[in-house]
Amino acid sequence: MSCCSQSIFLLIFAFVASSAAGGNFYQEVDVSWGDGRGKILNNGNLLTLSLDKSSGSGFQSKNEYLFGKIDLQIKLVPGNSAGTVTAYYLSSQEPNHDEIDFEFLGNLSGDPYIVHTNVYTQGKGNREMQFYLWFDPTKDFHTYSFLWNPSRIVFYVDGTPLREFKNQEATKGIPYPKSQAMRLYSSLWDADDWATRGGLVKTDWSQAPFSTSFMNFNADACVRGTDPSACASKAWMNQQLDAESLNKLKWVQSNYMVYNYCTDLKRFPQGLPPECSAN
Ligand SMILES: *[C@@H]1O[C@H](CO)[C@@H](O)[C@H](O)[C@H]1NC(C)=O
Repeated sequence: MSCCSQSIFLLIFAFVASSAAGGNFYQEVDVSWGDGRGKILNNGNLLTLSLDKSSGSGFQSKNEYLFGKIDLQIKLVPGNSAGTVTAYYLSSQEPNHDEIDFEFLGNLSGDPYIVHTNVYTQGKGNREMQFYLWFDPTKDFHTYSFLWNPSRIVFYVDGTPLREFKNQEATKGIPYPKSQAMRLYSSLWDADDWATRGGLVKTDWSQAPFSTSFMNFNADACVRGTDPSACASKAWMNQQLDAESLNKLKWVQSNYMVYNYCTDLKRFPQGLPPECSAN
């Protein structure tokens, strides 16, 4: 990142590293929709979202962040979850918004969930990558994380990187999310027009209500509206993937990747997006 864009955002926003105390949903989030279907339980240690035929539900972080390391433990809808989607994403609110997405696409009992990921920069997405998981995400809580710093975005599952989106603004002119603060959102909703086998498998409402559970939200992040100095010294601000992490990333991408927009030549007949070519 250049000197100047850095100082411009410092002028616009003031940030500080949030206390990484973490975990208490009463302090960190608001249940934002779903008319009682989203619940904070166990003194703030557990949050559940539910979905039935009339509505899903969702929550959002109280704070907005500009860079951070965000972890959340999630236990996805068990059983026949076909048609349901649990979304977990960061998004800014400007018209040309930035967004970093995890979406968990449910499936019939015994068939694998798909983890769908996307990155929007300046309102432009179309950067889908999808993965199977190497465990059953409905049996236990697993940690799903975003690393977002000035040089890269990394999606992690239980500390294993699935995907890296690098800042290639200087080298290739690809916009990178670096000046719009983002809020964290999560929701459980019905997407049976596309989610499971491309919409072939519909939601079985006789199984409703569907429920996803969340624990240990931890945003070690620069919070909008507070002093930036504490944030600059955070280790994750300069974090990269070391050799071991790069090996794990390779392992995931060669064994569990379902879809990669960067290899979809049919979709991009004029040529793959610029970030898809090696540096
Ligand atoms: C659901 O299971 C089917 C059959 O194994 C698989 O093709 C599909 O990728 C799975 N996931 C989704 C979200 O459709």
